[in-house]
Formats: sequence, C-alpha cells, structure tokens
Amino acid sequence: MQTLTNKRVLLGVTGGIAAYKSAELIRHLQEQGSEVRVVMTEAATEFITPLTLQALSQNPVHIGLLDRETESAMGHIELARWADLILVAPATSNFIAKLVGGHANDLLTTICLAAKCPLAIAPAMNQAMWGNSSTMANCEILLKRGIHFFGPEKGLQACGEEGPGRLLDIETIVIRASSLFDTGALNGKYLVITAGPTREAIDPVRFISNHSSGKQGYAIAEAALDAGARVTLISGPTSIEAPAKAHLIRVNSADEMYEEVHKVAMNADIFIGVAAVADYRPKTVAKQKMKKSDTLVNNSWPLELIQNRDIIQSVANYPSRPFTVGFAAETTNIISHAKQKLIKKNLDMIIANDVSDDSVGFNSDENKTTVLWKNHQKELPMMSKAATASHIIAIIAETLDKDTDD
Ligand code: PMT
Repeated sequence: MQTLTNKRVLLGVTGGIAAYKSAELIRHLQEQGSEVRVVMTEAATEFITPLTLQALSQNPVHIGLLDRETESAMGHIELARWADLILVAPATSNFIAKLVGGHANDLLTTICLAAKCPLAIAPAMNQAMWGNSSTMANCEILLKRGIHFFGPEKGLQACGEEGPGRLLDIETIVIRASSLFDTGALNGKYLVITAGPTREAIDPVRFISNHSSGKQGYAIAEAALDAGARVTLISGPTSIEAPAKAHLIRVNSADEMYEEVHKVAMNADIFIGVAAVADYRPKTVAKQKMKKSDTLVNNSWPLELIQNRDIIQSVANYPSRPFTVGFAAETTNIISHAKQKLIKKNLDMIIANDVSDDSVGFNSDENKTTVLWKNHQKELPMMSKAATASHIIAIIAETLDKDTDD
C-alpha cells in the first residue's frame, strides 16, 4: 500500500485510556512510510509517557503551548505547517468539544486551528458519553467542517460497558489515513516527470551542476501515484529515495535527460518538468583530468559553454502533445518571469517557484509557489513539498477534467 510514503503525520494524543494504543499506531504509520511527530495533551501524559512516544517516533514529543524549549526547536505554527495530515487518536469528548468551540488554550487545539492540512480524528470514550446529544451535535458540526472521523467502533470497553466508543482498530485507522491521500483523480493517466539537477561534465572528475535535491519532483511523482497515475520519473543525480511505484530512469546530463524524455513523452497524458536542467554545458569534455597548467590563461580558466537543448519546449511542440507543465525558479519579478516562460515555451501551465531565500525552493523541505494557467493564478503559500505536490496534482486533474468537458 505505502500511500503514506514521505507524508508527515502529526499524531495528536488526548487523555483517554486508549492513549496507550498510540504507541502501536506510531509504528504502523511509520511502516506505511510516514514521518510521525507527536503532540500530547497534559491529560494524555497520565496514560502513556512522552518518553515512550518520543522513542518510537524518534522525534521530541510536544506537550505545552508555552514550553520554551520545544517551541524554540519547532514552534506551534511550524508544526501546523509541517504536517500533511493531523490525526488525533484517541480523541476525547472534551477535545471534540474544544475543537467545535475553536479553543486555542493548549498546544494541540492551537495547532488544529492554525493548520491548513486535512484533520482526522479517531474518537474513543465511554459509550454513554459518545451517545450523549452534546457529543453527537458536536460531531455533526465537525463533519460539516470537513473533519474526517475514523470510528469509533462498538465493543467491550475498558470501563466494562459495551457499545460504540472504542477506538477504531489501529490497522483500519492507518488504511483510512492512507485513503485520504489516495484521490483517484488521475486514474488511467500516464505521467512523465523530470526531477533533480543535471551534471554537465568538464572532465572525468569535474562537472557543472546546481542545488536541486529532487525533493519537489519526487513529491509530485508520489502525489500523482496517489492519484492513480502511472508514473515515469526521469531523474538527475539525487541522494533521496524515489517513490517505489514509479518507473525510475536515472540520467546525468541534460542531453541524456533529453534522450530519455523523448523515448516516453509522446505516450504521456501529462508531462511535468521539475528538473533544474543546466542551460549550458562545456563545449568539449576532456578525456583525462585537466591539469591547472592546461587550463590557466592569465590566471583564469576560459571555459567555453554551449547551450543545451530545451527539453520541455520540445515536448510542448509535439503535434499531439501531453498536458505540459513547467517550473520556473525565480528570485525577482517571480510571476512576470514565469509568465514569460509559459508563453515562450508554449506550456499549458507553469509553477512559479520563489527561490529568493534558503527556506524554500532548492533543497529545502518547504516550498512557496504560484500556479499559473490560462487566465488563472493560484498561490500556494509556504507549505511542505508533499502538500505543494498534492495541490499541483489536484489543479492539473481539475484542469484536465474541464478541458475534456469543453
Ligand atoms: O529539487 P528541489 O531541491 O526540491 O528544488 C525544486 C526546484 C526549485 C528545482 C523546482 O521546484 C524548480 O523550480 N525547477 C525548475 C528550475 C528552473 O529554474 O528551471 P528553468 O527556469 O531553468 O526552466 C524552466 C522550465 O524549463 C523547467 O520546467 C525546466 O525543467 C525546463 N527546462 C529548462 C532548461 C532545459 N534545457 N530544458 C528544460 O526542459
């Protein structure tokens, strides 16, 4: 299954007897490929120790809203931005009521208010508390707000009573969490995507390259797989793991990337160029390592560069082309530069990527982008690259759907 691969799950644990099951839940979430961070309410710490959850999640456990130490490591707003999914399991009736009221008097409720990602809760409480009209009314309000409910299920309870209110079994919680990312929006579509940097050789030991890590391209490949697409990922050299279900083709140079793309892109429904392709390469590649004495002319090295072929532009000019999406990493006049590339390269859509500081764009875990297509523009504020990827795939799927209807 592994639909939680590279997803960041913030697990909220509230104070009920089922809190002890959160230890097992962390393990299952990790087995499905997600990174887990834990936020506990004070009451939850009476049922299971933060140390246990810290050891299992391999991350510090966050408890207090005003805890200087954990806030300085990762503050509540950063945690809200970090998560691709907030999963509160177990969720008590008190937590549910606080969520309805929009309270922000502890860390978990504050994060829930600040987060833009999906929120899922797995209630667990005594059957009479669950059946109480206040709890039922609260749940109805949360359902209308788009909050996902996992369970509860019926059965024998810790208090000895029997009825609905037991925490849903852990495996089902994980399947339900995975299914939130499994949209099916690109079912039956074939997507070809480039990612990472290219390396342009100077000699056997030297090359020209850039800081692309492949993270954004790989996250989009993952989101496309989650949406049901078949994916070929043509990647420059990276040190990160590629999505298991993608057909991975590794390349080094822009020329190799060009050749590999043209072997498959004519069959694609969608082509996305996320790779930071080097615009130039050395005119000649030395067969042996060049010596300083071979290269220096008046204390400088006059290295002659020639232009690489433009991969995405050539795909966009196929007579029957795939829906073609480019990226534009910019530091100034971000939108207008991106619009120029959209027109010049004859693309259907472009993602303007603000790379003006180290916290976004190249090699970071977060990104800040604006999607531009036809007469539309949608800003995606700073968020994880996985969340950026899900938004981009959702926009592409919606646009393709509309184009088919037209
Ligand atoms: O890999 P990460 O560390 O996660 O960083 C992600 C990223 C910042 C590299 C990515 O989000 C991004 O912005 N990629 C595009 C980088 C860029 O500046 O491209 P460009 O402006 O040089 O090219 C515009 C478009 O043309 C891109 O879609 C590019 O893939 C494509 N191109 C460029 C040159 C060329 N010879 N062939 C191409 O296909």
